[in-house]
Amino acid sequence: MDAGLVILILKIAVGAVTVLWIASLVALALGKTRLHGRINLAFFALTLAALIGLEVIANIISPGLFDEFLQARDAKNMLRIHLCFSMPAAALLFVMLFTGLKHHRRFHIATGVLFSVLWIGTFVTGIFFLPHE
Ligand code: HEM
Repeated sequence: MDAGLVILILKIAVGAVTVLWIASLVALALGKTRLHGRINLAFFALTLAALIGLEVIANIISPGLFDEFLQARDAKNMLRIHLCFSMPAAALLFVMLFTGLKHHRRFHIATGVLFSVLWIGTFVTGIFFLPHE
């Protein structure tokens, strides 16, 4: 399996779900709260599927695949920085979905601010900092 290709596919996936997430915020700004919820349900499912796919590749199918690839490109620190954003963002996804569905409005909005910072960090470090070739 080609680590560079897997990273490129992940970058495209992160870009695609980010478009969905932005659309959900536009829906919110237009007062279409239910649509915001629907879009974010898709955002949650697709992001989780990509994460599980990545974990299966990195830990079961080809353990050590990314280690070698990133070491050769002196990018292991970049991965560490990326994980500082992406891991808490992934954990917060569950909190966001739960608080949204339960209408814990204040908590959902406050967590949403933190989630936004973490997601933007995930996007920037993942797409621009990590090498894919
Ligand atoms: C910047 C990020 C976000 C902000 C500011 C935000 C804000 C809001 C607000 C104001 C509501 C209406 C709450 C109510 O009146 O009870 C809402 C509903 C909801 N949000 Fe978010 N949200 C964000 C991100 C997310 C994310 C990432 C998810 C899921 C992964 C999510 C899932 C939902 C769901 C399922 C609802 C309920 C929709 C419905 O009433 O059918 N939100 N959100």
